[in-house]
Formats: sequence, structure tokens, C-alpha cells
Amino acid sequence: MRMSKRSSIYLAALGAAVFGGLGWAMFAAPLATTVVDAQGSMSVPADYRSSYEFLGTWAVASDPAQGSKELHTVYASPGTMAAFRSSGKFPHDAVLIKEVFEARTEPLTTGVVSHAEKLAGWFVMVKDDKQRFPDNKLWGEGWGWAWFDVANPNRTTSTNYKTDCIGCHTPAKKTDWVFVQGYPPLR
Ligand code: HEC
Repeated sequence: MRMSKRSSIYLAALGAAVFGGLGWAMFAAPLATTVVDAQGSMSVPADYRSSYEFLGTWAVASDPAQGSKELHTVYASPGTMAAFRSSGKFPHDAVLIKEVFEARTEPLTTGVVSHAEKLAGWFVMVKDDKQRFPDNKLWGEGWGWAWFDVANPNRTTSTNYKTDCIGCHTPAKKTDWVFVQGYPPLR
């Protein structure tokens, strides 16, 4: 009994050393499946970007004289990340929502920091591979396009994506009009 307990501890330690070393060699920084292990050691969990709920963004100013004027946070409808990662494309019906916040800036212990304060409204893009609405001026270039003031999330004030949206999105034309460089979960 004593022998087997001791040898199993030894084997477990050996296994941890071997597999730990192997794991480290194979992946520079493998993400864990648990946040807290039996010893209370904590890890960054795998897949937190897909399974956790997005809460907010802080912007730390490099020039302490000024923080951010606005903060933009972007969400995608469920399944968009996985589809994009496997095909490199936004799937038909994917919805992208960009919140526009007025930022508030204050000195915190990390520096001069801006956080989301007052919601101004939402930009919405809806992927459309089927040209469903050829006569609607808010649809074109493979997307539906609309802005909503915070007071009225059900009625857009946009009238024509060609004048209201597309000019500004031209730098992102090669990536289907989306500024994908800002979205680490799509990589
Ligand atoms: C003043 C330029 C400008 C205008 C006008 C504009 N956009 Fe954008 N949009 C951007 C930029 C730049 C980004 C990414 C960086 C940021 O948010 O500052 C972006 C991001 C977005 C995003 C997040 C997904 C992405 O493409 O990265 C959505 C959704 C969006 N815009 C929708 C719209 C819609 C709909 C309209 C028209 C009603 C519109 N935008 C008009 C410049 C603009």
C-alpha cells in the first residue's frame, strides 16, 4: 500500500515532467483547459475569446496629454469566428455590430486610461452573398449597411451606403470591406 502510493506519486511526477516538457516544446504557450488547478495555480483558459462574454476595452494613452476620444467595440453573430477562421470569409447572414462610445479618460495606475462611457450608437453590417435586396440603397458590395443612433435601435438614419459608408471602408476593400486587422479572434 505504502509502496504503490509512493510509486504512483513518482510516476505522476515523472509523467508531469515528461508531458510538461513535451507540451512546452510543441507549443510555445499552450492554453489550459482549466483556469485553476488543484494546487490553485491559475492559467489563461483556452477558447476564452469564443466562450466568454466580451466585457469591455481600456485604451492606455501613449501620450499622457490626451486619451481616446471614442472607443469602438465590435461583436460578431455566433459562429462568425469559426466560419471565418476555417474559410477566410464572413458567412452569409453574419452580423457585425460596432458600438461607438464616447470615451472617458482618467489617470489610473496603468497610465492615462480611456474607457467606454456613453453609448452613441451602433454601426451594423449584415453579410449578403445572395443580393437579396438589389433595390435597397442600404445593401451592396456583399453587405447590408446601417447606423443606429442610441435613441433608436430599430430605425436607421442611414439612407445610402454609397454615400454613408463605403468611402471610409475603401481601405478595407481587400478584406471584404472589414477592418480585420483589429480583430485578433479572426486570426
Ligand atoms: C469616417 C469613416 C467611416 C464611416 C463614414 C463609416 N465607417 Fe465603418 N468603420 C470605419 C473604420 C476606420 C472602422 C474600423 C476602425 C474604427 O472603428 O475606428 C470601421 C468599422 C466598422 C464596423 C466594424 C467591422 C469592420 O468593418 O471593421 C462596422 C460594422 C462598420 N464600420 C459599419 C459601418 C456602416 C454601416 C457605415 C455607414 C452607415 C460606416 N461603417 C461608415 C470607418 C467608417
